[in-house]
Amino acid sequence: MSHNPDTIDISKVVEADRKNVWHHLSQHKGLETNDPMVIVRGEGMRVYDANGKEHLDAVSGAVWTVNVGYGRERIAKAVYDQLVKMNYFAQTAGNVPAAIYAEMLIDKMPGMSRVYYSNSGSEANEKAYKIVRQISHNKYNGKKHKILYRERDYHGTTITALSSTGQFERKAQYGPFTPGFVEFPHCCEYRSQFGDVTDYGVRAAKEMERVILEEGPDTVGAVVLEPITAGGGVITPPEGYWETIQEICKKYEILLHIDEVVCGLGRTGKWFGYQHYGIKPDMVTMAKGVASGYAAISCTVTTEEVFNAFKEDPSDRMSYFRDISTFGGCTAGPVAAIENMKIIEEENLLENVNVVGDHLMDRLNGLKDKYEMIGDVRGKGLFAGFELVKDRETKEPVDESVSMAIAADCMKQGVIIGRTNRSFEKYNNTIALSPALIATKADIDQIVDAIDVAMANLTK
Ligand SMILES: Cc1ncc(COP(=O)(O)O)c(C=O)c1O
Repeated sequence: MSHNPDTIDISKVVEADRKNVWHHLSQHKGLETNDPMVIVRGEGMRVYDANGKEHLDAVSGAVWTVNVGYGRERIAKAVYDQLVKMNYFAQTAGNVPAAIYAEMLIDKMPGMSRVYYSNSGSEANEKAYKIVRQISHNKYNGKKHKILYRERDYHGTTITALSSTGQFERKAQYGPFTPGFVEFPHCCEYRSQFGDVTDYGVRAAKEMERVILEEGPDTVGAVVLEPITAGGGVITPPEGYWETIQEICKKYEILLHIDEVVCGLGRTGKWFGYQHYGIKPDMVTMAKGVASGYAAISCTVTTEEVFNAFKEDPSDRMSYFRDISTFGGCTAGPVAAIENMKIIEEENLLENVNVVGDHLMDRLNGLKDKYEMIGDVRGKGLFAGFELVKDRETKEPVDESVSMAIAADCMKQGVIIGRTNRSFEKYNNTIALSPALIATKADIDQIVDAIDVAMANLTK
């Protein structure tokens, strides 16, 4: 079958998909009688399916990835030029775009200094975990090896990334998990574990300290946290939270690893989510928006201090970072990332995220005034979510089928929205939005109007 986009027989493609492709996060039984959705083309904020239907994409490729939007010829051309010149050599050696992008990236991350390339968010996190484990072996006789993670955060799909993920349903049936990962409670103030308190942020952060003390501070090497929890329900940190987390990490010499796989590269209106909160991380991981999905790339970025721990003793043949990611040597990733970053700068997209993001929050709060079912609206920049509840007083979450119905109705109207999806037993009740950083106020209006219609239809 031809795969030339201009001459392709799309019905044959749909049939081939139905017969041979195993889709992600999908129950396939329904696809025996319905056509799978096949996306054929994208332009700006919009994608077009095999039937020619236009969809406004409010979630940047379904999973907050295509930050600069679809159809960016300059990225495709830069990747083409690079690939015909030099497509791949293992990162044991340097290559031109990897060096240039590392310098550009570090320029945006004061305090950080080294970039380790691989090709997915899960893998970037695994590298950070290996760094923690090896430092523990080299400096602390293997004792300070535990890694703490937070309830409701997600850090990836591999068994160890799942071992550090605080979402029960995402993990269920995939154990046993990697030892040495320990969970501490979430920081979602709307779901306060301490009742109605004025210092929720500090109290929630102190839960981390409680777990450190229970485990023994000399056994804990690092903590991994999303700056704003994404797939776990778009949870913005409460006031005082990050300052306290930073203090606790310092007090017990625990490395602070920030997972910027979703928030990184502009999503929240700064280059990185952690930069809103004055955090000084030891390691930062990123993937999705780094090249907006034009190529696979992820980065594990560290301070010079973390990096130096691996070259202190060259006479020890085992002490350097003995890790490789084959596709971390692909040049397509960093060259796409260079163009991606230039686009964000040249088109002032961080500013756009702040301006249009405010409009998004205003519109969602307007919906909250209209529908009792919306219990809480959260977000930052072009990253927002709202919780659906049966009753505002009891805050009892709606069944997952309700958020599914809203998403399905929006899809019929030509707007693709997101939702928490088989993550928790109870809290699959959050609608999530993460439009591309190029979104206009009119795009936001179209998205929120579609949700408005879908919610009105629920009660018909
Ligand atoms: C916060 C966070 N970290 C890590 C990952 C894993 O990234 P990947 O799917 O590229 O492995 C994700 C994916 O959704 C994520 O949301």
